[in-house]
Amino acid sequence: MIYEHPLAYLLGVEGVALLRSFTGAHDPEFVEARIAEIRRLLDDEALADAAVEVARVETAEGYRIWSGTYDGPNGLFDIDEPIVAEIVGKLPQGVALDAGCGTGRVASALAGRGHRVIGVDSSPDMLDRARARVPQGEFLHGELHRLPVPDDAVDLVVCSLALTHVPALGPAVAEFARVLRPGGHLVITDMHPDGVARGFVPTVRLADGRPGRIATFHHPVGDYLRAALAAGLRLRACEEPRLPRGPRPTEVPATSEAVKVWDVWPWILTSLVPEATDAAHGDTPTMIIWHFDLPG
Ligand SMILES: C[S@@+](CC[C@H](N)C(=O)[O-])C[C@H]1O[C@@H](n2cnc3c(N)ncnc32)[C@H](O)[C@@H]1O
Repeated sequence: MIYEHPLAYLLGVEGVALLRSFTGAHDPEFVEARIAEIRRLLDDEALADAAVEVARVETAEGYRIWSGTYDGPNGLFDIDEPIVAEIVGKLPQGVALDAGCGTGRVASALAGRGHRVIGVDSSPDMLDRARARVPQGEFLHGELHRLPVPDDAVDLVVCSLALTHVPALGPAVAEFARVLRPGGHLVITDMHPDGVARGFVPTVRLADGRPGRIATFHHPVGDYLRAALAAGLRLRACEEPRLPRGPRPTEVPATSEAVKVWDVWPWILTSLVPEATDAAHGDTPTMIIWHFDLPG
């Protein structure tokens, strides 16, 4: 069980913002405003007893629930798609593996570029949607650390937004290198570890209505690089795209009553303390995107 208390989140954001004043980022007015805001938060009765116990949900179950709405509007897709398109657009057509393919978002784009596409995912429900979306693709049930793909079989592996769900990067990245032909390319997109560390983890509602978060792991930036170097891959590029600064728009009004809408935590919480959020999170990258190749 995960114990989520809105005050813990809000005080944490205020704390990170205040820490930055020790590196000279803020003037005295900002520091005094934060301390006054912390006092108001501590006195707010709506926040005091709003803690929620949240289940940790395994990925297959989490994506069974999410599969029905996954393809709804998702601002993250706008962040990685242009960067992946730029990298992949320079590569020749061949056999492409979409590892952790989900509903086939990347597989569909790769097929559109003329690649023969294989998709692998551990969620049968996400795979059903990928098969419907990309009928010419081959979609296989499997795990990232044990890919049902022979050695030296593909020219390109793309793994988008999936590695954050594996407990260790090494075995999955070694599998990507194993299935790549010499001269092949690997593109990884993932939630940025700084965001994961700040609680940006997907939510689901279980069948009985209980809140849950899909099992997600914090992999520091260097862990991706070390896993790739150990697998014999060579670094070509690394991007850390950010959303524009400022509080995220939400449809729920920014009052402490809004904390009742757990499904939009932590976004709704950040809208209660916009200045602190901007200072604490404003320059945090949203995603991390890697391009490696396997020397021939
Ligand atoms: C956020 S979705 C990303 C889907 C797709 N790549 C995209 O970018 O839209 C994460 C996907 O990774 C899959 N996944 C998570 N852990 C996995 C594992 N260990 N092996 C295979 N697939 C996994 C999930 O089932 C889910 O479909």
